Amino acid sequence: MNVLMLNGSPHTKGCTYTALSTVAAQLEKHGITSRIIQVGSQAVRGCIACCKCADTGRCVFEDDSVNEAIDLLRQADGLVIGSPVYYAGPNATLCAFMDRLFFMKAAPYAFKPAAAVVSCRRGGASASFDRLNKYFTIARMPVVASQYWNSVHGNTPEEVMQDKEGLQTMRTLGDNMAWLIKCIQAGKAAGIEPPTPEAWEKTNFIR
Ligand SMILES: Cc1cc2nc3c(=O)[nH]c(=O)nc-3n(C[C@H](O)[C@H](O)[C@H](O)COP(=O)(O)O)c2cc1C
Repeated sequence: MNVLMLNGSPHTKGCTYTALSTVAAQLEKHGITSRIIQVGSQAVRGCIACCKCADTGRCVFEDDSVNEAIDLLRQADGLVIGSPVYYAGPNATLCAFMDRLFFMKAAPYAFKPAAAVVSCRRGGASASFDRLNKYFTIARMPVVASQYWNSVHGNTPEEVMQDKEGLQTMRTLGDNMAWLIKCIQAGKAAGIEPPTPEAWEKTNFIR
């Protein structure tokens, strides 16, 4: 069992990483491995709406890790994405990456548990958290809850390490995600299949 993690921060070992690695350490206690893709240091383009991914299942741009993430997420049992808060929202690099990772190719990710974590110095955590959860809830991915909205506070990893409740929230998230992944696995072994999606009633608001 394995979980894919995306670190949206440009700081490879910063505050967001500290949050993600706390979740990863808790998953490890339950026998679940994690792999972090360092997204935030890459030059990531936005989606150009070419819609080629609808035919190929891949993104036309090969100069970053989006296609690698598509392959890894198809194989993974869960997803955790982490973002620093920039102007009360998730950072632009992660959003550009997520738009391209999900647009028209999220069907294989359905029913994989997912969660977002955010790190901020002072404000904007819950708005950023809400925005990131939108990727999961449009893709039939069960959102894993913790004991609070998944945020840590700090401007440096050392400050994050002082945020005891934030770190506990990350550990609880790891416990809850491990439990849900194992429940889904046990359900499959017992013959419980995920629901079959209906044909999409696609309307542009009303028609
Ligand atoms: C461009 C930019 C915008 C930021 N905006 C906010 C903000 O709106 N609210 C906040 O509390 N911190 C803000 N910060 C601080 C970071 O969110 C905070 O230091 C975060 O923990 C850094 O995580 P990292 O070490 O993983 O990059 C901002 C930082 C940058 C670089």
